[in-house]
Order: sequence, then C-alpha cells, then structure tokens
Amino acid sequence: MTKLTVIGCGYLGAVHAACMAQLGHDVIGIDVDAPKVALLASGRTPFFEPGFEEVLQSALASGRLSFTSDMSAAKGSDVHFVCVGTPQKRNEYAADMALSMPRSPRSSRTCPPATWSSASQPSRWERPGDWRTLSR
Ligand SMILES: NC(=O)c1ccc[n+]([C@@H]2O[C@H](COP(=O)([O-])OP(=O)(O)OC[C@H]3O[C@@H](n4cnc5c(N)ncnc54)[C@H](O)[C@@H]3O)[C@@H](O)[C@H]2O)c1
Repeated sequence: MTKLTVIGCGYLGAVHAACMAQLGHDVIGIDVDAPKVALLASGRTPFFEPGFEEVLQSALASGRLSFTSDMSAAKGSDVHFVCVGTPQKRNEYAADMALSMPRSPRSSRTCPPATWSSASQPSRWERPGDWRTLSR
C-alpha cells in the first residue's frame, strides 16, 4: 500500500485525497485551516461537489483516510501531493506560488526524500513514472 500525503485540502486536494483512499492507498490530508480539517474528518464537505460526501464518508470508514493540521504527519509518506492555493499576484497575471510547500526549507526538512507532486507546477516536482504506481 502506498502512503500518500495531500497538502492543501481544498476543492482539488480533498477530492483527490478521498479518491486515492478509495483506490486503496493510505492517505493523510493536511491543511492549515483547522475548521476545514475538522469538517472533513467528520465526513462533511466544506464545498459542494456532487457525490463527494459519499466518497469522503466511505473513505473515512475504510480507515485509509485521515485529516490533520500537523505537517509532521507527512513524515514517512511515499508521495506528497501539493494542492495548496495559488492565488493571482496583486497587479500581475502570475500565480502567487508563496504557499507552495516544497520551496520552503522547513517543509523540505519535514518531508525529505519522497516524491513531490504539485497541482500548481506538475513539471517541477513530478518524477515521470511515479504516477503509474498510484492506482491499483
Ligand atoms: N480546483 C480545481 O478544479 C483545480 C484544477 C486544477 C488545478 N488546480 C490547482 O490546484 C491548487 C489548489 O486549488 P484548489 O481549488 O483546491 O484551491 P483551494 O483554495 O480550494 O484549496 C487550497 C487549500 O490549501 C490550504 N493551504 C494553504 N496553505 C497551506 C499550507 N501551507 N499547508 C497546508 N494547506 C494549505 C488552504 O487552507 C486550502 O484549503 C491550485 O494551484 C489550483 O490552481 C485546481
């Protein structure tokens, strides 16, 4: 079983985390928003996505999905999916990548050698081939 971390549990990350758990992986969803973490952990969704609540509850019931605000829970994961927000920069067209975790020395120390994959900059962190082992 692959141990996965999903960092940032918004629209993209929460759904990704639950679906990966449904596929049989061991998934920890991490988010700085504690109320959102509590909501997700109780099987309720912070946003409307048809069918998601059922998938979320089923994944939680399987014991393969959990949520936390504690970044250290990412230690030991095989793959870290970075799904934090990338809001538009003020007065620019570019995305603000400040929240992207792998750039932070602190997160690199917390989660050293696993595969990093980002919804924001896939080509930067994804190692070709790693995705193929994720679905089973
Ligand atoms: N929503 C989509 O359909 C979609 C599709 C393709 C790509 N993306 C990309 O995926 C990324 C996430 O999009 P989204 O729509 O889920 O955004 P979102 O704003 O709904 O979720 C981002 C989450 O990241 C959390 N977060 C912020 N900083 C954090 C940190 N340091 N540690 C942990 N969690 C943190 C926020 O609390 C929030 O819950 C963005 O880069 C977006 O461009 C989104």
